[in-house]
Amino acid sequence: MQPGAWRINKSARPLFGRKSLAKRGYLRRNGPVGVPVLLPNLDRARGLGMIRPGDIAISAGHISVLGREAVDLLEPRIGGIYLDATFGAGGYSRMLLDVPGTRVIGIDRDRTAIAGGFDLVDRSDGRLTLVEDRFSNLAQVCASQGVRAADGIVMDVGVSSMQLDEAGRGFSFRLDGPLDMRMSQQGPTAADVIAKASETDLADIIYIFGEERHSRAVARAIVAARKQAPITTTRTLADIVARVVRSKPGEIHPATRTFQGLRIFVNAELDELHLALSAAERLLKPGGRLAVVSFHSLEDRIVKNFLVERGKAGGGSRHLPEMAQAAPSFQLLTKRPIIAGDDEVAANPRARSAKLRAAERTAEAPHAANELPAWPVLADVMRGG
Ligand SMILES: C[S@@+](CC[C@H](N)C(=O)[O-])C[C@H]1O[C@@H](n2cnc3c(N)ncnc32)[C@H](O)[C@@H]1O
Repeated sequence: MQPGAWRINKSARPLFGRKSLAKRGYLRRNGPVGVPVLLPNLDRARGLGMIRPGDIAISAGHISVLGREAVDLLEPRIGGIYLDATFGAGGYSRMLLDVPGTRVIGIDRDRTAIAGGFDLVDRSDGRLTLVEDRFSNLAQVCASQGVRAADGIVMDVGVSSMQLDEAGRGFSFRLDGPLDMRMSQQGPTAADVIAKASETDLADIIYIFGEERHSRAVARAIVAARKQAPITTTRTLADIVARVVRSKPGEIHPATRTFQGLRIFVNAELDELHLALSAAERLLKPGGRLAVVSFHSLEDRIVKNFLVERGKAGGGSRHLPEMAQAAPSFQLLTKRPIIAGDDEVAANPRARSAKLRAAERTAEAPHAANELPAWPVLADVMRGG
């Protein structure tokens, strides 16, 4: 199925209605959606206002991290147009919809997340549109919805707890499952990469995207193991890594960095973030706001550098001093990143590494888009060079 818009309005309802065969077939193909999951610290999360009565069926196990703070930083206004570039379980979208008259476009590349939002679309009175796509396509998504400029854009990047906690999605070394890791459930899997990539590419992927010091040893071990038998499950890969990367009690699991590297690579997560930030710069109205929550230093560095750089005059060159300097296109709202408080971390340990940065769009023209860093790219690696 091509990425496309999933807008539930009255005419579309018969097709995707709760009881429709189409929707049931869709859900079956993609695993259970909206199944209530008991969260270990649910009462705590509810007490903090992160979950409200009636939310559970939709949140399906995902507690929004820094959601309140991110949405508050957008200062959503009555009737404004907002993009939730990482819909997930819809936590941020719900808060944006709480402001009267807002229109929200929710984007997610994971069709299971989009399907999980159908009920919210149904209840939104036509104010929420869900689009299955990558957020690097922000501009095209908006154009397809007749939206030329937005009052606010929010991104909560990375994987959702639903994706991490579902063994069949293959994101977690703690759960045995197929070595998949694709958010969009399309394209090459992590197992395909492990089977095809050269030892050098594997080492680069694990070093650059996983920040694993022992990347060469891990790549060597993977190449030796795949000569014996295909590596197709998360458990097999975790065991191979654990034989060459030692960790002391209390430290992170030895496979953490290798899994992070592969996941970021399979989903081109850092390229996506670079492209989405530039797209957001072009889409926001003067005074419009951007808020980004990230979960590890590689992502946070990209967001920080982008906002700091766009907050300064730039674009000129010391070799071509006559070239006009681009005026600042953003004004920083967060000098330091906002992090989760103790209560939020206690209710949801994932929040520990979250960082929120935000900025307000000025009226100046967008800067020229930055070139993407030269790092391994999925298509090249799968082509074998
Ligand atoms: C951390 S979750 C978002 C949770 C959400 N804020 C909530 O409150 O439920 C991240 C979501 O973003 C999606 N995602 C990650 N990268 C994406 C990309 N490049 N394009 C579109 N969606 C993406 C993932 O599939 C996942 O569902």
